[in-house]
This record gives sequence, C-alpha cells and structure tokens, in this order.
Amino acid sequence: MTTTDQPVLRTPYQRSIASYWNNEKDPVNLRLGDVDGLYHHHYGLGDYDPSVLEGPESTRDERIIAEMHRLETAQAEVLLDHLGQVGPEDALLDAGCGRGGTSIMANLRFGCEVDGVSISQQQVDFANEQARKRGVDDRVRYHFRNMLDTGFESASRRAIWNNESTMYVDLHELFAEHARQLVQGGRYVTITGCYNDLTGGRSRAVSQIDQHYICNIHPRSEYFKAMQANNLVPIAVTDLTAATIPYWELRAKSSVATGIEDPFLTAYREGSFHYLLIAADRV
Ligand SMILES: C[S@@+](CC[C@H](N)C(=O)[O-])C[C@H]1O[C@@H](n2cnc3c(N)ncnc32)[C@H](O)[C@@H]1O
Repeated sequence: MTTTDQPVLRTPYQRSIASYWNNEKDPVNLRLGDVDGLYHHHYGLGDYDPSVLEGPESTRDERIIAEMHRLETAQAEVLLDHLGQVGPEDALLDAGCGRGGTSIMANLRFGCEVDGVSISQQQVDFANEQARKRGVDDRVRYHFRNMLDTGFESASRRAIWNNESTMYVDLHELFAEHARQLVQGGRYVTITGCYNDLTGGRSRAVSQIDQHYICNIHPRSEYFKAMQANNLVPIAVTDLTAATIPYWELRAKSSVATGIEDPFLTAYREGSFHYLLIAADRV
C-alpha cells in the first residue's frame, strides 16, 4: 500500500460533507442497521410485504424498520451480483463506504479482502468496530481517505464500487482514480441517483435532494462520458427506478421518514431522476 501526500479533506466542500457524516445519527440509518449489524446508508430495492403495515400497532414500527432494512440489504446484494468473478485471493475497494455494510456483505459472499474509504472519521471508526465484532477485521478494513486519491497501489483491485457516493465528487477525477487502481479486466459498479438529461437540467425535486444531502447529482450522460474517458467500458446498465419506488412509499409511512421522501417520489414518478446501476470493465 502506498500513501498519499495530499490531506484527506482538500476543499471546504469536502469538509462540509465530512462534518455532515461525522454528526449524522439519523434513526433511518442506525435503527435499521441495529436489526442485524449491517449498517447501510443507501436506499432499498424490491416490493415490500404489505402485511408489515397491518397487525398490532405496538409492533408496527419494528416490522416496518425490519422490512426497510431487508430492502436496503437486497439493494447491496444486487450491486454485489454485478461484481463478476471474485475469489478469496482478491482485494476490493468500497469507495465512499459509509458505516460499511456493503463491504461486510462482500467479504461474507466472496471471502475476499475489502478496503472501505470514507471522508468521515466517525464512520470509519464505527465500521472498523463492526468488522472487529464480526471477527473479519483481518479482511475488512476501513480508512479515513479520499476516494479521489486513496493511496492504494495501482492495479491492486479486482473490483471497485460506489454505492450511492458518486454525487459528492467530480466523475472524471473519480473514474481516473478507479481506473488506476483496477487490474485490467477488473470490474467497476455503481448504484446511483442521476438526473435525466432529457428533461433538461435539474428539476425542483432533484434540487431539493441535492440541498438535503449537500450533494451534486450528476446527469445520466456524465457517467458515460467520464467512463469512456477513463477506460471503463459499460457491460450492464439497469434502470432500478421502478424497483426502488416501493421502498420510498414504505419509508414515507414509517416513523423514520426524514422529509426527503416526497422529493424522491416526485422526481422518480415525473421521470426527472433515475436510480441506475452501471457496471463497467477496466480495459
Ligand atoms: C450516502 S453515503 C453511502 C455509504 C455507503 N456506500 C452505503 O451504501 O452505505 C455517502 C458516503 O460517501 C462518502 N464520501 C463522500 N465524498 C467522499 C470522498 N471524496 N472520499 C471518500 N468518501 C466520500 C461519505 O463520507 C459517505 O460515507
């Protein structure tokens, strides 16, 4: 592993993102993760079981939380399904890893090594503690590093993913760094929200999402331009928008709703925003 001379937080913008995540203790993230110790900061996929809304009032909340968590874990499974051939000897990178749930799942599935990077020291500490509790801290490690300049060796990664973390960075810079770290034939996967070029710029609902998370949602076209420029050739593009809407409908009815549910549902339903999976090979 090499190190980088650059400070981890390079810009006022990155400092504000780090501060947001260092202070974040949102029940929608923590209570769901408490269900089984897999902490996700991403959204869900698939239909929810409507029976969770019925039954005794006293346990309704608990049922909804468990169901939302199941859908968020299902989302990470879909991402891992696209990583291609990965074995125990391989090393992967979880870029913008949050509290680390997807990295743990990758290690459980493939037995591989995983390094997660986040610009939030709190998240990194939290995630390392989870890996320690599970006894996988020799294979899954989290680092306070910038995904635009990780310091990991060139051609050291069989696969890299961004699970809902591309909207904080310039895609050209990000994909150049990914291309450097991937072996030839290595796989890159992202699941992300992107706005629809066809509808002409950021809709109001998309702007509200940006403002809520202090992020800069990219247009769909930008992903493909930046991949093309950085030797990443798409092999699969899946529109997951229809599959994520039920999660948002359930979340809007839950006690852990944060107020951003309406803009997401509006943006998806009006077609100004997509929930996309893109998998690409490093050539
Ligand atoms: C919405 S969360 C997603 C977390 C995780 N991928 C998941 O699925 O649970 C966004 C993450 O991106 C990270 N992030 C944002 N900009 C970053 C950067 N330049 N380098 C590394 N991590 C970054 C944040 O610290 C946060 O962990």
